[in-house]
Amino acid sequence: MRRSIIAGNWKMFKTCAETRAFFDALIPEIQNVEHCDIVVAPPFTALSTAVDETEGTRVAVSAQNVHSEKEGAFTGEVSVRMLTEVGCTYTIIGHSERRQYFGETDESVEKKTLASVGGGLNAIVCVGEILSERDSGQAIEVVRRQVRIGLGRLTESALSHIIVAYEPVWAIGTGRTATPEIAAEMHAEIRKIFAEIYNPAAAYALRILYGGSVKPDNISALMKKEDIDGALVGGASLDPASFVRIIKYS
Ligand code: 13P
Repeated sequence: MRRSIIAGNWKMFKTCAETRAFFDALIPEIQNVEHCDIVVAPPFTALSTAVDETEGTRVAVSAQNVHSEKEGAFTGEVSVRMLTEVGCTYTIIGHSERRQYFGETDESVEKKTLASVGGGLNAIVCVGEILSERDSGQAIEVVRRQVRIGLGRLTESALSHIIVAYEPVWAIGTGRTATPEIAAEMHAEIRKIFAEIYNPAAAYALRILYGGSVKPDNISALMKKEDIDGALVGGASLDPASFVRIIKYS
């Protein structure tokens, strides 16, 4: 059985003080949660605070992005080693907002993914089509390309540190969630691509999260689908009360 993951992507929200307040409210509510892994991805500036606040708890801390080089003259960037040093165990890679606003490509996703797992991080790698691609019937083809280029050349040991997040761009921050059926269809497709590239066992073991307007009132229906192994939550992960309700989906 694959273990579920509920992950919160805070994007460019929360200062260090707000991060402390969030965990002060969250931690007492999740003491007895054992059915899923919990991951929170604050902005770089709050990572260290988040690591301190979650020490000794079951919450893992993730970055939202990372650079593929070990170090160098890359103003404004952060390396894998910098993240592991502060206590991060995950990073998100290739989020659609990174692709859309910061020029990330399937090729940069591959480099970042290889660097991350090579340096000891678990990588939550995002894929997903934009609205015009879905409307023109190209959604599967687009995701296939993203997976093949971004995740097509991993070693067997690297694979166990990869989590895929399917985030249809038209469902992010729009309140328009993909139906559980639409999400499940793409998740099954992603698993099929992994079986083709690697092998059925690796594909079966892969955890695939859904992201895009996940809320307390739609998480349960999504999680009932066999190929949906968790969620990458944006807006609804910022409020501890709603994030707790998502973590405690039934
Ligand atoms: P929302 O949950 O706000 O739609 O954001 C989803 C997302 O982008 C998570 O990475």
